[in-house]
Amino acid sequence: MSLLINLRSRTLTHTLSTAKSLRIRPKSPISVRSMTHSTLTLTPTPPADPPPASKVQLTSHHQYHSPRLLPSHLNPDPLLQFNAWFASSLSPLSTEPPTPVVREPEAMAVSTVSPSGIPSTRVVLLKTVDSGFVFFTNYTSRKSTELDSSPYASLAFYWKEVSRQVRVVGKVEKVSREESGEYFRTRPRGSQLGAWASEQSSVVGEDTLTERVQEMEERFGGEVELPGHWGGWRVVPL
Ligand SMILES: Cc1cc2nc3c(=O)[nH]c(=O)nc-3n(C[C@H](O)[C@H](O)[C@H](O)COP(=O)(O)O)c2cc1C
Repeated sequence: MSLLINLRSRTLTHTLSTAKSLRIRPKSPISVRSMTHSTLTLTPTPPADPPPASKVQLTSHHQYHSPRLLPSHLNPDPLLQFNAWFASSLSPLSTEPPTPVVREPEAMAVSTVSPSGIPSTRVVLLKTVDSGFVFFTNYTSRKSTELDSSPYASLAFYWKEVSRQVRVVGKVEKVSREESGEYFRTRPRGSQLGAWASEQSSVVGEDTLTERVQEMEERFGGEVELPGHWGGWRVVPL
């Protein structure tokens, strides 16, 4: 992970809450539509006859014990503040072996919007912070198609261990092929082959996927080339 300093941003929010209550009342049963990257995509199915009276209700009241956050505690440049928080979230706890204060602080939710205004959100991994927040993905995926048609994204990091969130709203741009290639070459070979073999956002059988990975393994004896359909997006804060 590389973090560069002297960055620009406008949005950073720290939210503390003392009580939460959440009610979920599914109108119809949910079914598993696809499974990718350990992700279950749940979509409503047409109601059965008669509709089930299911209800999930959470009324937990978690107490958050974190120091008060005052404007004077914050760097006026939100990106510098992000870097400081990010660095502190990675500082090792004195466990054996040492573990970072926050597990996977680079995991962030990315929201995009379809041409008809329907939002969708998924988790990706932040790889660089420079003039924006960079993540890598398949350019034919749903998120990329939506970013092509509406080049704005919203990000949310939730750092549970320190009761912090960071929110970003920005305009997106594709990173250069050079930058994508540079990152691609650092990925494990299996992930590189996977980028060729897997079409994101579509349902694929395990056998087909295994076959495709095998084909790619044979195609690339040595170095795996950067696929044309794969690369990075930079979310530049508004
Ligand atoms: C912890 C975690 C990290 C992930 N990181 C990435 C990532 O960096 N890039 C990516 O394309 N997908 C990543 N995924 C998978 C995405 O969440 C998503 O399922 C996939 O990109 C397809 O999304 P889409 O159909 O909305 O475009 C990750 C999933 C998880 C659970």
